[in-house]
Amino acid sequence: MSLPDQDAPLRLGVNIDHVATLRNARGGHDPDCVRAALLAQKAGADGITLHLREDRRHIRDADLPAIMQAVQLPINLEMAATEEMQRIALAHRPHAICIVPERREERTTEGGLEVAGDDNRLRDFIAPLRDAGARVSLFIAPDEAQVEASARVGAQVIELHTGSYCEHYAAGNEAARDAELRRLFSAAALGQELGLEIHAGHGLNFANVGPIAAIPEVVELNIGHFLIGEAMFVGLEAAIQEMRRQMNLARM
Ligand code: PXP
Repeated sequence: MSLPDQDAPLRLGVNIDHVATLRNARGGHDPDCVRAALLAQKAGADGITLHLREDRRHIRDADLPAIMQAVQLPINLEMAATEEMQRIALAHRPHAICIVPERREERTTEGGLEVAGDDNRLRDFIAPLRDAGARVSLFIAPDEAQVEASARVGAQVIELHTGSYCEHYAAGNEAARDAELRRLFSAAALGQELGLEIHAGHGLNFANVGPIAAIPEVVELNIGHFLIGEAMFVGLEAAIQEMRRQMNLARM
């Protein structure tokens, strides 16, 4: 597999799940996820990310084909490693699939996927998705064993979970934040060495995105909750454009 081009601009995948969360709070069609995806495309997003959860609390089944049909951007479907999700992914064939751990009671994706120790199941799960042409990514903690296992099971990409870094950042716990950042840097370097493409995401906002965008091996960030919240104040296009500006600044 070719290594990522270090001079390539950092890609921004906009996660529109929380447009759907707001819509679902009332039922009906508003706010419209397709409109949000089109606006993200207009604002310069490089991809649209959506998470079809088992409980359908964000997007619903019909949203996936509707968004795929409406936008030209690559679609990154986040999903749990279940038979039902594999069936859906194979039926719709999004450009990319990010496998995430899922627990019903969690508010968001709280931890990374436990790849090490689940090798055989994940290898079998990933193979047909890759055969169908999807770029398969595993959402993992920045942990050496998980990075190595991800390469073993045949993922092309790892998405490093930045949630702990963001929590320490928000709490002002500089030592823990910097320790987590070091873990992210070395996981990214190891992943690239093993031939994986490196993405990152979870909990990123204007304040904390810089150090993550500066990790040289990272070629894509997936950002949702903050952008959709910020859109209430400044609009979705402006929020995305400002995020892009912050990412580019950090990359320079
Ligand atoms: N990447 C993955 C794999 C995720 O599960 C999520 C949350 O759905 C994100 C990125 C985006 O996180 P946030 O919504 O906090 O920006």
